[in-house]
Amino acid sequence: MWILGREMKVLHVASEVAPLSKTGGLGDVLGALPRALTQTGEATSYVVSARYGSLSPSEFGMARRLRTMSVPLAGENHEVTIYEGRLPGPGAYVPLYLIDHPLFSERPGIYGPPDQPGQDYGDNARRFALLSRAALTLAASFDLRPDLVHGHDWQTALAVYYARVGHHDLGRRLATVFTVHNLLFKGLCSLGEAAALGVAPQDLGPEGVEFWGQAAFIKAGLKFAHRVTTVSPTYANEIRTPEFGYGLEGVMSALGDRLTGILNGADYERWSPWSDPYLPMRYGHPEGTGSTLDEDRWQTALAGKARCKAELQRELGLSPRPRTPLLATISRLTEQKGIDLICSLLENDLLAGSDFQWVILGRGEPWLEERLRALTTRFPSRLAVRLAYDEALSHRTEGGADFFVMPSRFEPCGLNQLYSMRYGTPPIVRATGGLADSVVDYDARSKSGTGFCFTQYDAPSLTHAIRRALSAYGGDPMAFQGLIRRGMRADFGWAQSARAYLHVYKQALLDSHAG
Ligand code: ADP
Ligand code: GLC
Repeated sequence: MWILGREMKVLHVASEVAPLSKTGGLGDVLGALPRALTQTGEATSYVVSARYGSLSPSEFGMARRLRTMSVPLAGENHEVTIYEGRLPGPGAYVPLYLIDHPLFSERPGIYGPPDQPGQDYGDNARRFALLSRAALTLAASFDLRPDLVHGHDWQTALAVYYARVGHHDLGRRLATVFTVHNLLFKGLCSLGEAAALGVAPQDLGPEGVEFWGQAAFIKAGLKFAHRVTTVSPTYANEIRTPEFGYGLEGVMSALGDRLTGILNGADYERWSPWSDPYLPMRYGHPEGTGSTLDEDRWQTALAGKARCKAELQRELGLSPRPRTPLLATISRLTEQKGIDLICSLLENDLLAGSDFQWVILGRGEPWLEERLRALTTRFPSRLAVRLAYDEALSHRTEGGADFFVMPSRFEPCGLNQLYSMRYGTPPIVRATGGLADSVVDYDARSKSGTGFCFTQYDAPSLTHAIRRALSAYGGDPMAFQGLIRRGMRADFGWAQSARAYLHVYKQALLDSHAG
């Protein structure tokens, strides 16, 4: 989109950006969407994030600026320094800036201590208000001249608020867009603290950030952005209902057509089996995304995947059985992800009589970790649980598994089902949010579908879907290969989503000019 003869400038402010910092899909999105936007030729993206203690900027070729910057917040001036570089990866150049301040650099974790998953640092409101405010100071001091500020989740909702109410030195009107990646996380603090962090008295009520007597940062994004997006069309509808809105359904409904659902893309530069540096053997071919992959290449691809499976079984200490279907789950271990369904399926031995192995890679809530640990002692030969965050193993698991199980209670978008299809690992998903928007249920008769879907949130329904998958695996080989090929060919690249964001940006710009 051209503004007075030049492309529009978009300042993304986010708490995660892969591969530098990541706890989940938010990082993956910020590692790819800004570049896809710049690649349209109609926008220029800039990304601002934080330099956490566990992150080594020099590893990513980032250089430290000598000059410090003074950021006004909570009645004080905070001196921060900046690391400057580019978003790693091939393709368009996207400037990336990291805010360096002890509130980030002296903490090893992003949101809380790494050895205590689920625990937050007590001063996160202040930390992310600082990131939000510093991004705007940086834009002024580096003369970036953004037309639009794009905040992501509660952590950077205040960037939207500050941009909207004029807490910045940019001397211009800014359009604002806020993306909800997960409505469950609201960023709660006291109203007093929100006031100290710059929320004006008139914005502390229910029409502003107030939520049941506290302040919810996410409302600073929802109420003040010109336009709001979330990461799939189905989730955009679901969050207007009490079941998925978690108390914000009224706010979401009131947004009307100012709320748009745009499905996330997959970053195929990082997630393709033919170029993945983590796999013991690469397989498939870019032409596999077209319809013309010839039979020889296809058989080579299958052989490559079989080798990845054998290596994965060996690495995990599972018996090297090529014909035993290997299920996989890679996930934050929380209720959102349906891990309790997986536990109850295994605890009640609902797949008794079926031959299968299952690898589960994840970290999360202690009660779920404990249940999984107990299950490994019960089923040592079929269950391999790795309670860790391991990027390399996550790629090897996508490559080596036969099916990916993702029975989420709710799922704003989900990325692993997209990666799985590309790796020839049909997903078994609960049809909610982005899972419903990306996986098509398998139908042997019409030779259609890319995975296995179920609706009811209970262990028998999950079991039924898995049994269908296992019977397809053991059934007609040509039909099963057709399922794999359709998934590998499906294109969930970022280009299409980037165009949808451009459309929303245009509307936000028009709104901002209207006053
Ligand atoms: P969410 O953002 O809700 O966690 P997504 O499906 O959008 O879910 O994204 C999850 C991302 O985090 C994927 O890239 C996935 O591979 C990664 N991931 C989750 N748990 C782990 C883990 N234990 N080790 C490595 N990667 C993980
Ligand atoms: C959130 C959601 C996930 C989504 C990701 C990136 O963490 O839980 O569904 O894919 O954000 O948008």
